[in-house]
Amino acid sequence: MHTLRYMGSKLALVDIIAPIVHEYAAGRGVVDLMAGTHAIGYALKPHARVWANDVQHYSQVIGQALLGPCKLAPGQLVHQLAREYLARQRKGFFEEVYSNTYFSPEQCRDIDAIRTAIMALDPPVQPLCLTALMAAMSYCQSTPGHFAQFLPREHRRVQALRRLRLLDVFRHKIEELEEGLVEGKGENTISGVAAEEFSIPQAAGVGYLDPPYTGDQYSRFYHLLETVVLNDSPAVKHKARYRQDRFRSNFCYPSRVEEAFLRILSVWAKADLPLVISYSARGLLPLDRLHSLARSHYHRVRQRNIDRRHSSMGKGEKPVREVVIIASQSRLQSRLNTNR
Ligand SMILES: C[S@@+](CC[C@H](N)C(=O)[O-])C[C@H]1O[C@@H](n2cnc3c(N)ncnc32)[C@H](O)[C@@H]1O
Repeated sequence: MHTLRYMGSKLALVDIIAPIVHEYAAGRGVVDLMAGTHAIGYALKPHARVWANDVQHYSQVIGQALLGPCKLAPGQLVHQLAREYLARQRKGFFEEVYSNTYFSPEQCRDIDAIRTAIMALDPPVQPLCLTALMAAMSYCQSTPGHFAQFLPREHRRVQALRRLRLLDVFRHKIEELEEGLVEGKGENTISGVAAEEFSIPQAAGVGYLDPPYTGDQYSRFYHLLETVVLNDSPAVKHKARYRQDRFRSNFCYPSRVEEAFLRILSVWAKADLPLVISYSARGLLPLDRLHSLARSHYHRVRQRNIDRRHSSMGKGEKPVREVVIIASQSRLQSRLNTNR
């Protein structure tokens, strides 16, 4: 299910990664420790119970929408309420702060109207509607693919992007979501703690860890999505107009990344559960170091290479080697899990 253009999304690799995670779950639940757009959790939803975690609120909202029980979203109602709000011509936060940056003034007005309309709905139906709003923002944004910078007005793509009617894209996205959502196997759980602090549930069979691998903080690249789901009006700073209360991930600092991996490896190894890790050959932590950390806690560490061309958000395409590292106590770990 495509929702956002997202740095490091595993949507394109789902057919490779999801079966590995599923095999090691061995009939038990899956924990997606840094779920982002929930590409892996959503692929496994029909087959396993999923615990999905991510520190960003927008990710938790997408998780509630995609992994929660399927429901009908009142798209028509939101559309109608948003139109009533637009008729009142009151200036909202997005129009005030972001006009002619990431969006045109009209697109900002639509965002304000849709978010006000969604907040008038019952809480259980809000996540699907907010996810459609974020998907519409992601589609219409005048940016290289994230919200750390916006394209200058004279950029060749901006005029066409600015002409998109965000309210119409929203309506289309909500229909897509409603039609596409698959039923789950069990009751899934969404949480928002640092992965280093995550308490492993009794019924879990495997952990999947997909951390940031560069110094780019997700809270900086997707600050606008955080603001839309928090429904607040924060003070903003710098040309990119960032909110200030941003989470800083240990995985984005060369001095902290090793300790962060170690903490997670030690908790999962102590629980005697396998850990599947996605990382890059160009990550802040060199792969040979990651292997030796994994080997200090697990008997068996294997690597699967995935070579592909990767869009670097406005800077063209580059060849990248992504890896999947599977740390388990033995060849039999996946079968042992079944017998717990
Ligand atoms: C590479 S992305 C995950 C992409 C995801 N697998 C997908 O397919 O969309 C990394 C995610 O880790 C989250 N994150 C970063 N540091 C974290 C931490 N310490 N604990 C939990 N989540 C974290 C970010 O918010 C981001 O969504």
